[in-house]
Amino acid sequence: MTTEKKKMQESENRLQLCLRNSAFVRNTVELTETDSTNRVAKELARSGAPEGTLVVAERQSDGKGRLGRSFFSPEGGIYMSMVLRPRISAENALLVTTCAAVAAARGIERVSGCTAGIKWVNDIFIKGRKVCGILAEAGLSAESEYPDYVVLGIGINVKKQSVPEELKNIVGCLEDMTTGPVLKEELISMVWEEFGGLYETLSTAVYMEEYKERSILLNREVTVLAAEGDYRAVAKDIDKKGHLIVEREGTEITLSSGEVSVRL
Ligand code: BTN
Repeated sequence: MTTEKKKMQESENRLQLCLRNSAFVRNTVELTETDSTNRVAKELARSGAPEGTLVVAERQSDGKGRLGRSFFSPEGGIYMSMVLRPRISAENALLVTTCAAVAAARGIERVSGCTAGIKWVNDIFIKGRKVCGILAEAGLSAESEYPDYVVLGIGINVKKQSVPEELKNIVGCLEDMTTGPVLKEELISMVWEEFGGLYETLSTAVYMEEYKERSILLNREVTVLAAEGDYRAVAKDIDKKGHLIVEREGTEITLSSGEVSVRL
């Protein structure tokens, strides 16, 4: 057996052991390398894979981020995508991302011991650095008001090499935030353990309270990056659907997608 294969086998065994606590995960596809775990999970979802199918890769050659960006994915990070079949309408689709953000923040906090904040809508920050990004992609159904599937992708920077040199001021890794080692398999399991519990409350979105408490934007001055031109505003609230409400020159504006920056 080659060293790479042996390493993979050991990590597979560790992951299966850790996932015993995460009843939500029904089956796992583990890959050494792929282009994007979201792409693989979408293919599995289209061919009928059940909710709870998890794809995990050691590295990605074409990791996808939000807004058409790419997600740097060398070895040393966690790259995983889950097949979901939520019974929520497309207008509530943001709730999957917000649910995942709370689960990822809790999981990261449990392994790192550091307070994890959420930057609307899908980023987890520790000590002013982004350590995790989330990308949910829906496959719409022609027959139903519900999506056929949602693929939920989560990328977490764990080891130093998962942070690109040119982004060191913005992006961080868990290894730099903690004193002890971070076991990737343990973190994967914790995220899905937390997610499983929260996902049951998706339709009532009770976890939005915690999402708001963890928000690093609320009551701060932000810059909204808009197609018609960037503008300054104050982040006032996040509603039950996960929309960000900002106030610009006395007028409230509700944002359902897009990008907001804040000085940290
Ligand atoms: C973002 O920060 O804009 C979202 C990043 C999401 C990255 C994860 S890594 C696993 C999954 N596969 C992908 O190609 N993207 C997501």
